[in-house]
Amino acid sequence: MSEKRENWGSKLGMILAMAGNAIGLGNFWRFPYQAAKNGGGAFMIPYFGALILLGIPLMLVEWNLGREGGKYGHGTLGPMVYLQAREGVKPKSAAVLGALAGALAFAVTVLVNSYYNHIIGWTLGYAWMSATGGYMDKAVETGDIFVKYIQSPGRFIVFWVIALGFLGFAVMRGIQAGIEAWAKFMMPTIYIFGILLIIRTLTLGAPVNPDWTPIAGLNYIWTPRWDALNWTAALAAAGQIFFTLSIGMGIIPNYASYLKPEDDIVLSGVATVSLNELAEVILGGTIAIPIAYTFLGEKGLKSGVGLSFIALPNIFRQMAGGQIFGTFWFLLLFFAGFTSAIAMYNYIVALIEEELGIKKTTASIMVFALYIILGLPVGLEAGLTKTADLAVLSELDNWVGSYLLVILGLIEVIACGWLMKDKALETMNKGSYWKVPKWFFTLFIQVLTPVATIILLFFSTKDYIS
Ligand code: PHE
Repeated sequence: MSEKRENWGSKLGMILAMAGNAIGLGNFWRFPYQAAKNGGGAFMIPYFGALILLGIPLMLVEWNLGREGGKYGHGTLGPMVYLQAREGVKPKSAAVLGALAGALAFAVTVLVNSYYNHIIGWTLGYAWMSATGGYMDKAVETGDIFVKYIQSPGRFIVFWVIALGFLGFAVMRGIQAGIEAWAKFMMPTIYIFGILLIIRTLTLGAPVNPDWTPIAGLNYIWTPRWDALNWTAALAAAGQIFFTLSIGMGIIPNYASYLKPEDDIVLSGVATVSLNELAEVILGGTIAIPIAYTFLGEKGLKSGVGLSFIALPNIFRQMAGGQIFGTFWFLLLFFAGFTSAIAMYNYIVALIEEELGIKKTTASIMVFALYIILGLPVGLEAGLTKTADLAVLSELDNWVGSYLLVILGLIEVIACGWLMKDKALETMNKGSYWKVPKWFFTLFIQVLTPVATIILLFFSTKDYIS
């Protein structure tokens, strides 16, 4: 338990860091293929439903747990100790929940990083290849280039380790000089690159087939196809909400733990969600799918990893200015992934620092080593199996999105809504510019959000078993 706490330097820096935490590969790499796979526009119905039922309430819950509980230790474990300190919460239930939540948050973060960091490495490698013309030779299929990239340790390891090194250095410098400074540079750049890419996308015309216009591509993602609206789509949508908002991992509470006791939660939390949705639906949804549609029509849109790393490079080398726009695209992905990975990295460093009393620099080096050890087997899969189907990576991604994040979310919402009850509403509104009304707290945080989370878990499990 440390008394000396770091704080955010400015409100703008804090919001950008929080938005950086949420806006990640999930917005640009995961969202487009989840939407395309699960019925295009129809996907948006369960998606926005989950945003309101789960996303916004859980975001507020996590900010609250983090700001209030952070002083008892970082991450999710601290907030649970905080429950224990509260009147009315039996020490035993708080301790059990705290242990569960802490272990789960730690496990999920490490698990996510075993594959997430690889994709960040690929984006850096591909940004480099875009800038230097590495995939511009039309005689070689971009699919083969990607397979070769992920199968050659000499290639993917270099960029992966560089990315991890940058992360380690950023975290070592601390909240203001490290995390906040990087977010202030990277977050606005993401939006600028995103807008430039949207302009390029919308001016592509119909280079291959007169029906394949960028607008037809936009229609593809926005027109609801009701027949595709089923349980699988709904589960995928809810999983995507958890993933994209960084909920259920302990990294939002960790960032919130650097707030001052009277800092606003409600408006800032909603602002973070809004910035994330802007980046996901507008930037994420307007770039990759319409570009791919303009060149390929409906085929090829459904592949996940393939959309960003195979279909798009293939298009960048055909379109005017493709090398520059390719560089923008992969740098955008890299910055998005990086500002999320910083949050995960910092969370584990904070745990080691506070729980084990180890210095930040040493803790950062320990996390670097941990990531290398755990990430190496995942990274070597493609090379060892001589395939590119990345079964381990997809399975991990599926588990994280479908279960693990959701279980932690459920623990948190029960802790806030049922163990802390009115105290939680009171602290949430303390210093907040907007106040959460009592009816919202009762309806959502006590009833709808936990019920929806339980239903989600039930159906995910059923889906998996059958
Ligand atoms: N929200 C971030 C993203 O969209 C980071 C994140 C990754 C959160 C994995 C949870 C799980 O990429």
